[in-house]
Formats: sequence, structure tokens, C-alpha cells
Amino acid sequence: MKKYCLDLAVSSVEHVTPHHVLLSLAVDCPMPEVKPGQFVELRVDNSPSTFLRRPISIYDVDREAGLLKLLIHVVGEGTAHLAALAQGATVNSVFPLGNGFSLPVSGGRHLLVGGGVGVAPLYYLGRELLQRGATPVFLLGAKTASDLLMLPEFEKLGRVCVTTEDGSMGQKGFVTNHTVINEEDFDCIQVCGPKPMMVAVARCAKERATQCEVSLENMMACGLGACLCCVEKTKEGNVCVCKDGPVFNIEKLSWQI
Ligand code: FES
Repeated sequence: MKKYCLDLAVSSVEHVTPHHVLLSLAVDCPMPEVKPGQFVELRVDNSPSTFLRRPISIYDVDREAGLLKLLIHVVGEGTAHLAALAQGATVNSVFPLGNGFSLPVSGGRHLLVGGGVGVAPLYYLGRELLQRGATPVFLLGAKTASDLLMLPEFEKLGRVCVTTEDGSMGQKGFVTNHTVINEEDFDCIQVCGPKPMMVAVARCAKERATQCEVSLENMMACGLGACLCCVEKTKEGNVCVCKDGPVFNIEKLSWQI
């Protein structure tokens, strides 16, 4: 798939929580094909301590408006600079990177499981599944109700199940405690979030003999398979998460599940 390196203008910056922004970037050429689960590497200008680009998940693609939407978790100086970009500023962007989630030819019931900012790629995935006649069911987990991201948007796409560790919304506990994952059948479970959560969900999927894909969040730098800082051990040897992933079928990984 062809990659683009473009200066994209910031169309809008929406502060979703005190630590998350939804950055919309205007793509002023025909929008390339972008798969759910792919990501963008953003260059951070005017930040003397930020040398490397920041890999950011693609939250949505608005083809009609020519917008690429990215959900950014502000965790350090680099992401703070990106969150502080003003409308009209430009940001150098390399995209689309990585492989993306598998999409069915038509139909099927998919459980999309997300935790933290890991929910980001699930919105576009849900939209693409709907376009293929599939039914996405979302299972979103957080520590507490105020940590749940973009909930009203997910609710526009389908049924949303929630767990919170403190019980402030949805069922109390972790995503793997929710009845939807333990009692209902799906053709595929697709997951993005913290590794312990993904391992636990992968275990549930394996017990139920359900196909399962996870999107790994290994540390990345180049995003192009050159620096080897994102290597993951798999049953077929070491691979670069940025180029060969970030999405993997759990059967391919060397995880103890
Ligand atoms: Fe450089 Fe993956 S980030 S090889």
C-alpha cells in the first residue's frame, strides 16, 4: 500500500478530556485507501526534546470532507505539542502505516474490545464493518466512568457494553468479566488496549474457539521497519510491529495464553 508524507493542515482540535484531543487533519489530495487499525506518524516541530515522530491511531476517515481524525492521548512533551496545535497549523504526517484489522467480505458478528486510548481504531473499524453488513458490538473498559472515551459516538454505531473497575458505569470489573464476552457468540473478537487486557481477552477468545485479532502498542520510532525498536516475537520469528502489524491474529503470537 502506497505511503504518503504530507504537510497536513489542522482542521480542528477538540478537547475530549483533559488528557485527550481529537485532531482533524485536512488531506488536500484524494484520500488514500486507509484500513481501520492503521496509524499515522506525526512529526513534532518546535519541541527541542522530541526527536522522533509520534505514532497515532487513526480514529476515523471522513472521505467526503477529506479529513483524517486522530485521537491523541497526551502523555508527554511530544503529544502535548500535538494537542496544542492551532487550527490552520500544519503537521508533517506519514500515513497510512501498518496492516490494519481484517474485514469480512460480508456480514458476521464482531466484538470490538477497547481499553483506554485503545478504543481509537475501533470507531473506524465499527463503521467499516457496518458498511460490509457486519454487526459490531463494542465492549469498552475503563477505570472509572470519566475515563471512557467517545462513548456517544460509539453508541451511534451500535450496541455498547461497558465495564469500569469502580463500577461507576456498566458492569463492575474488567472487560473479561462482562457477560457479553462470556455468554454471547461472535465470529471475531478484535482488541486494542493495554497488553494485560489484550492477553486476557485473547485467552477468553481461545477458550471459546473464536477468531481473535489484537493491535499491539509496542514502542515505535521510525514506523517503517527500519529501526527495529518495535520487534515482537512470533511463532514465525521476530517481526516489526510497525510494518508487519500492529494487528496480529493471536494464533501467530508467542503469548502464553
Ligand atoms: Fe522502527 Fe518499527 S518502529 S522498525
